[in-house]
Amino acid sequence: MPATSGRRRSVTTDGATALGAAQPEEAAFAQPVSCGEPILQVRDLVKHFPLTRGVLFKRQVGAVKAVDGVSFDLVKGETLGIVGESGCGKSTLAKVLMNLEPATAGSVKYKGEEISGLRGSALKAVRRNIQMVFQDPYTSLNPRMTVGDIIGEPYEIHPEVAPKGQRKTAVQDLLDVVGLNPEYINRYPHQFSGGQRQRIGIARGLALKPEVIICDEPVSALDVSVQAQVINLLEQLQGEFDLSYMFIAHDLSIVRHISDRVGVMYLGKMVELGSDAEIYDHATHPYTQALLSAVPVPDPTARERRDRIVLTGDVPSPANPPSGCRFRTRCWKAQDRCAVEEPLLARPAWLTGLAVHDSACHFAAEREIELSAAEREIELSAAEREIGPRAAEREVGPSTPEREIGPSTAERQENEGGETGTPQ
Ligand SMILES: Nc1ncnc2c1ncn2[C@@H]1O[C@H](COP(=O)(O)OP(=O)(O)O)[C@@H](O)[C@H]1O
Ligand code: SF4
Ligand SMILES: [Mg+2]
Repeated sequence: MPATSGRRRSVTTDGATALGAAQPEEAAFAQPVSCGEPILQVRDLVKHFPLTRGVLFKRQVGAVKAVDGVSFDLVKGETLGIVGESGCGKSTLAKVLMNLEPATAGSVKYKGEEISGLRGSALKAVRRNIQMVFQDPYTSLNPRMTVGDIIGEPYEIHPEVAPKGQRKTAVQDLLDVVGLNPEYINRYPHQFSGGQRQRIGIARGLALKPEVIICDEPVSALDVSVQAQVINLLEQLQGEFDLSYMFIAHDLSIVRHISDRVGVMYLGKMVELGSDAEIYDHATHPYTQALLSAVPVPDPTARERRDRIVLTGDVPSPANPPSGCRFRTRCWKAQDRCAVEEPLLARPAWLTGLAVHDSACHFAAEREIELSAAEREIELSAAEREIGPRAAEREVGPSTPEREIGPSTAERQENEGGETGTPQ
């Protein structure tokens, strides 16, 4: 059920509502489109890191606007992909949602209750339900702790989930669930491959039986073949444990295969948000169109005919973002209006069909030159051969076979032979 009105909303850079826009109270923030029961509701979330000068008497001279007014819902049971170039604020958004960084402003509600700014036991209770899987499986696991201690560590803080006598069994069960040999409980992180270490990170994320898992680039540091294994595992666990995922990546092709909806971020803002079909086949924001045009196409003929958009110029500093639309310094469609009016995330009233979804552009429109249906078919089937079925297909298709979700061949050899498992 769409929550936004069909009217465009825009504000000038000094905050005044533009002519023809919606009522001021509506324009205050853009309601995200979402279907189903929201488990997380994020509204106007802001995280500014102060820039200071001076050693003894520090004074603030500015701020890095890492996240600057982001609103969206995470619906129960869905996977919301968040994509954008490095430095656009994805990790900061994740940390603020987890309360690892305090928000500068805005609201985060978990099941209708405000969780932004919680402290002490109230924060501890919420943390149990929202867990995070980090990007780098090489640095996110303590090299001095055994796998059993790493996965079981959350039980020290939440002993009610697994009392002391049951912890070893609970950890072994988790190792089994993520496709690792439960007998590896006493091994150390360096004895595992990258993919296996990310499985350990996922097992730790599952330990407290959370409802939401925020995955911050969980496969970016892994080889392509192992990426597919880890993504298939995450999809399988989602069905098994009724999880809602926020899946952060800088790679649009990875996100498509796991996400039900996708949000595109640029310089601290959400610039486009919609279902995977809306974003991938009917993108209306120039930035999303540029990102999509750079997605690799396996077929050489289709690749030659595709109309690639090469963005010129560097990403501006988040400490001094451009006025109006932040993308205007790199946008080939920019006009005078873009420098003075900030486009808010809303549904363009002049578009039709799947092009009608949230887009923060004054001139939102689908690209005129697009891949033909045949070319898109080639691209899709090739990508699916590599990664596996998409989220929508999970519901109708047979459950993922064991061999697809288990460790990769290399990992299996390690499991069986244990060659790399020898302590060094
Ligand atoms: N602790 C911090 N102090 C100051 N600036 C930060 C801090 N963490 C992140 N930033 C800045 O915030 C911006 C967004 O960073 P980040 O959220 O890590 O982006 P992404 O995950 O999309 O690559 C970057 O410009 C980064 O340099
Ligand atoms: S608002 Fe203007 S500058 Fe921004 S994306 Fe749209 S056309 Fe480009
Ligand atoms: Mg990051």
